[in-house]
Amino acid sequence: MKAQFLGHSAFYIETESAKILIDPFLTGNPMAKHKPEDFDNVDYILITHGHGDHIGDALEIAKRSAATVITNFEIANHLSRSGIHCHPMHIGGRYKFEFGTVKMTPALHGSAIETESGSVNGGNPAGFVLNIDGKKMYHAGDTGLSMDMKLLEIEDIDVALLPIGGNFTMDITDALLAVSFIKPKVAIPMHYNTFDVIQADPDEFVEGLADDVKGVVLKVGETYSW
Ligand code: NI
Ligand code: MN
Repeated sequence: MKAQFLGHSAFYIETESAKILIDPFLTGNPMAKHKPEDFDNVDYILITHGHGDHIGDALEIAKRSAATVITNFEIANHLSRSGIHCHPMHIGGRYKFEFGTVKMTPALHGSAIETESGSVNGGNPAGFVLNIDGKKMYHAGDTGLSMDMKLLEIEDIDVALLPIGGNFTMDITDALLAVSFIKPKVAIPMHYNTFDVIQADPDEFVEGLADDVKGVVLKVGETYSW
């Protein structure tokens, strides 16, 4: 299993059987080096919540690639109106897809979808635990620190993708506490330095990790395999 960092909270996951995007915010993302048309072959797009820096280019990529969008019920209903195929889930739910299992986890955040005709209810924000090819990955989405993260220790997470930028989400201090709750083998920071208000030093996060957790800072475009 390998995960390529596309900037902000966007990742491209390649498994033995599927190509998956998470939170594909490319257009308008000052960190992004990719364009929607680079992902014409993806099979699934996972969206953690309704904010523009997470839904991103999901609609355009889903139309071009015929990918299935996996997201909460409200966002799935909203996107389905544009004719793309969605698989709605919700928090606490787990479902076995052909590529592996997806579980939606709670996030402390908002999820409204901004449209030209106003705000649309995007349900509750979430994270994802993916169990693919015998490996587990947690993408936290946008979230504050929560006691619910202690439950993730039971999941035996291999790789945790955690926001560290503060202001809208956990900062480094809280992300380090989250790691102590989740106890992943590897922690990868995300959702930092994209905008002025989410400046953070990813090396400071890595230096603060306990000895038994490996910190990996991915530059945009870099891939981590495990
Ligand atoms: Ni957000
Ligand atoms: Mn965000």
